[in-house]
Formats: sequence, C-alpha cells, structure tokens
Amino acid sequence: MKTFSRVLDLIIGFGLIGASGITFLYFLINERFEWIPETALELTRDQEILERPKAKKCSECHKDIFEAWKESRHSISWTSKTFIEASENRSKEKCLPCHIPQSVQGEKPEPRIDLRNEGIYCVSCHFIDKKMHGPYDLLAPPHPTFRNPDYVRSSFCGSCHQKTFKEWQATRVEDTCQDCHMPRKKGRLTQKKGLNLLHKKRWVADHRFLHGKITEKDVILEAGWEEKLFNLSLQNKTIPHFVPTADNGDPRLYLYIKFFNDKGEEVDSAKEIIAPQQETALPYNKKINFQYRLFNPVSRAVIELKYQSAWSKEKHQVFSKSLSR
Ligand code: HEC
Ligand code: HEC
Ligand code: HEC
Ligand code: HEC
Ligand code: HEC
Repeated sequence: MKTFSRVLDLIIGFGLIGASGITFLYFLINERFEWIPETALELTRDQEILERPKAKKCSECHKDIFEAWKESRHSISWTSKTFIEASENRSKEKCLPCHIPQSVQGEKPEPRIDLRNEGIYCVSCHFIDKKMHGPYDLLAPPHPTFRNPDYVRSSFCGSCHQKTFKEWQATRVEDTCQDCHMPRKKGRLTQKKGLNLLHKKRWVADHRFLHGKITEKDVILEAGWEEKLFNLSLQNKTIPHFVPTADNGDPRLYLYIKFFNDKGEEVDSAKEIIAPQQETALPYNKKINFQYRLFNPVSRAVIELKYQSAWSKEKHQVFSKSLSR
C-alpha cells in the first residue's frame, strides 16, 4: 500500500505539471507496470468485461480488432446459411463445439449455451480463468490480462482446425497459421480516446482471419504431350497444408482441360475435382499426376484452374494456360 500511495502521489504530482505527468504515466503503464499494485488496479477495472459480454463491448476500446473480426468467417460461424443447412438446422449436437465454442484451450472446445449468434467471438478465444489471455505481457487497466505463449502457436488454431493442423504439422514448415492468416502490423491495441495515447504501439494481428490466396506460383502446373497421351501435373509448392484444406467444409479446386484440333474446334474435354471431401486435395510439395488418352488429332490444350470456397457456389479463376503441341 505504501508503494501505491507513493506512486499515486507521483502521478498526481506530475499531473499538476502537465506533459511530464503524462510522460511518467506512459512510462509507468508501458515499462514499470509491476510497480502498480493490484489494489490500485481494482479501481480501474470494468466488471462488465469479465461477464462474458458480446464482442461489441470489447469494441469500446479494441475498435479496429472488432471491425476486422466482424469481417471474418469466425463471426458468422453460427449464422452461415451453408452451415445451417449442413447441420440440419443446427440440430446436430456434434456440429456445435467448434462453431459456438465456450472456450478455446488447445483441444476440441465445449459448445456454449448463450450468445450463440456471436459465433466464434472474442470471449471464446481470449477469456480464461477471469483473465484476458493474449500474446503480450502488458497492463490493461480495464481488465486483467495474462501472457500465454499458445496464442502465437498453430496448436491454438488446431483446437478446431484439426485436420488442417495435422497436415501442417506433417510438413515441418516453421511458418504458423497466424503468420499467414493473421499477419501483423504495427498499431495500437485500443482506439479509445486517452487510452490509445497511454499505451505504446505494438504488433497487431489481423483479426479478419484472411482466407489466403492461391496463384500460379503456389500451385505449379507442368504439362506435355507424348504420342496419344497428354500428361499433366499439379504441385502445391508453397502452402503448408492440403489445397484446399477443410475439417467439415467442402472447398474445391476445379481443373478444366479442353482440347482443340488445328481448325480451332473443341474435340475433347476433361474435368477434375480437387477437394478434401473427395480425398483428392493437393498435399504440400508433392506432384499429383493426371493423364489423358487422346482419340482425335489435337493441336492445342487449354487448362484452367478455378477455386470455389466452402460457403459459396462462385468459382474464381486461379490461372488459365494454353499449350500448343
Ligand atoms: C472439430 C471442430 C469442428 C466441428 C466439430 C465441426 N466443424 Fe464445421 N468447420 C470447422 C472448421 C475449422 C471450419 C473451417 C473450414 C474448414 O476447415 O472446413 C468449418 C467449416 C464448416 C463449413 C463451411 C463453412 C460454412 O459456413 O459453410 C460447414 C458447412 C461446416 N463446417 C459444417 C459442419 C457440420 C455440418 C458439422 C457437424 C457434422 C461441423 N461443421 C462440425 C470445424 C468444425
Ligand atoms: C479464433 C480466435 C480469436 C478470436 C475470435 C479473437 N481473437 Fe484476438 N487473438 C487471437 C490470437 C491467436 C491472437 C494472437 C495473434 C498473434 O499475435 O499472432 C490474438 C490477439 C489479440 C490481441 C493482442 C494483439 C495482437 O493482435 O496480437 C487483442 C487485443 C485481441 N486479440 C483482442 C480480440 C478482440 C477484441 C476480439 C473480438 C472482437 C478477438 N480478439 C477475437 C485469437 C482470436
Ligand atoms: C475500457 C477499455 C477496454 C475494454 C472494454 C476491453 N479492453 Fe482489452 N485491453 C485494453 C487495454 C488498454 C489493453 C492493453 C493495451 C496495450 O497495452 O497496448 C488491453 C489488452 C487486451 C488483450 C491483450 C492481452 C495480452 O496479454 O496480450 C486482450 C486479449 C484483450 N484486451 C481482450 C479484450 C476482450 C476480449 C475484451 C471484451 C470482452 C476487452 N479486451 C475489452 C482495454 C480494454
Ligand atoms: C473454436 C474453433 C476455431 C478456432 C480456435 C479457430 N477457428 Fe478458424 N474457423 C472455425 C470455423 C468453424 C470456421 C468456419 C466458419 C464458417 O465459415 O462458418 C473457421 C474459419 C476460418 C477461416 C476461413 C476459412 C475460409 O474458407 O475462408 C480461416 C482462414 C481460419 N478459420 C483461420 C484460423 C486461424 C489462423 C486460427 C488460429 C489463430 C483459427 N482459425 C482458430 C473454427 C475455429
Ligand atoms: C505459408 C502460409 C500458410 C500457412 C503457414 C497456413 N496457411 Fe492456410 N492457407 C494459405 C493460403 C495461401 C490459402 C489459400 C489456398 C487454399 O485455398 O488452400 C490457405 C487456406 C486456408 C483455409 C481455407 C480453406 C481452403 O483451403 O480453401 C483454411 C481454413 C486455412 N488455410 C487454415 C490454416 C491453418 C489452421 C493453418 C495452421 C495449421 C494454416 N492455414 C497455415 C496459407 C497458409
């Protein structure tokens, strides 16, 4: 208590002389927060934060992170139309745990009873034992925090992305899920006036949980002719899990090949579905071969790869290539 009142005196003392008071408070909060006793912090706590509130409550301070999360698939994991259909109107018990988790702690979560429309929200991922767990050792006056190294590990995501996590583990690539799907930028964790100036800039991870983009540099195409055969291979060169990857969704790559004769007429065609649900997804760094027998004279092939996500029927082109004999 003695140290506390001394600290308080210092703050008030410095406060009277303006700018240097703020400088001292900034130093205290960012560099010497262990000097501030728990009893003093009790005065700055906001009890509502610890009552498992909606994400909107967190946005009072963490506005940027909230807005990013709002755009993510995690925020609609319960209200997604395709999920509602696939889970028989959300009646299948076994579909609930990962889509409305109570708390994420490294293994398959338990489903929760309340606030189901929030999907996978801030409290599910951060609130454990009455503290906000996260990657930093820091002081947050409004709520207790706890530095937990799991937050920067792939195993955290593997609580629910179980198949993808196993695929990733087998590649032995060092980049984590967060490195690619939550890239970091320098910024403030809070946007609330006052608080934002008292806390230094840190790395902030992108809470849109970016989908990731495939290009022709990621999936390498090789193709060639051999008498009456057309050989083709696809290789997932850069993405350290299957492409596409899924636990329950049905994302797909479609490979279309059209064969033309020397008059430019289409004489033959083929189609492949590359999808985890059909066990045809592309493993990391392995060439997958396809072969086609040609019955007509062919002088050119057009090869097109398209991607379709788990929740939309729209197909996006990854690449299109024309190959002459
Ligand atoms: C172990 C955790 C887990 C369980 C249990 C689970 N899911 Fe999912 N689900 C995921 C993850 C992770 C994704 C993200 C995309 C992917 O990997 O498939 C997902 C995505 C989906 C998608 C695609 C996204 C969308 O909104 O359309 C559907 C559909 C889906 N799940 C349906 C189900 C159904 C039906 C069940 C029950 C049979 C179920 N899930 C149970 C983890 C789970
Ligand atoms: C699917 C789980 C998940 C959800 C949902 C989630 N977070 Fe996070 N959050 C993480 C992970 C993982 C990190 C650590 C990322 C890193 O630093 O690599 C993190 C980091 C943070 C940090 C520390 C700064 C940073 O980016 O490292 C804050 C603050 C935070 N989250 C707040 C929130 C708030 C507020 C919400 C809701 C609007 C939210 N989070 C939703 C998983 C989640
Ligand atoms: C009244 C403002 C306020 C509200 C509301 C608030 N926070 Fe915070 N939070 C902070 C401040 C301040 C920090 C520390 C910022 C810094 O030092 O850069 C912080 C830090 C964090 C961290 C980082 C923890 C770590 O050790 O890495 C997480 C996670 C977090 N908050 C989650 C949440 C969640 C989830 C909610 C909603 C349930 C929430 N916060 C509501 C002000 C708030
Ligand atoms: C509580 C379970 C859970 C945890 C933990 C979790 N996810 Fe998810 N994730 C899901 C579910 C369920 C979906 C599908 C939501 C939907 O579309 O309905 C999903 C969707 C996604 C998507 C969008 C997939 C797409 O097709 O666009 C990405 C990317 C993603 N998660 C990355 C991550 C990363 C990175 C982490 C770790 C920081 C993580 N997730 C942690 C359950 C989880
Ligand atoms: C080196 C970067 C990288 C790492 C590491 C990585 N991913 Fe991905 N991920 C991508 C790219 C690029 C895509 C888009 C290609 C695709 O659709 O598969 C993607 C797609 C996804 C999707 C969308 C489903 C799909 O395949 O369309 C999910 C879900 C996902 N990743 C989860 C994870 C999880 C969980 C981890 C960690 C275990 C992880 N990723 C690690 C780059 C990465």
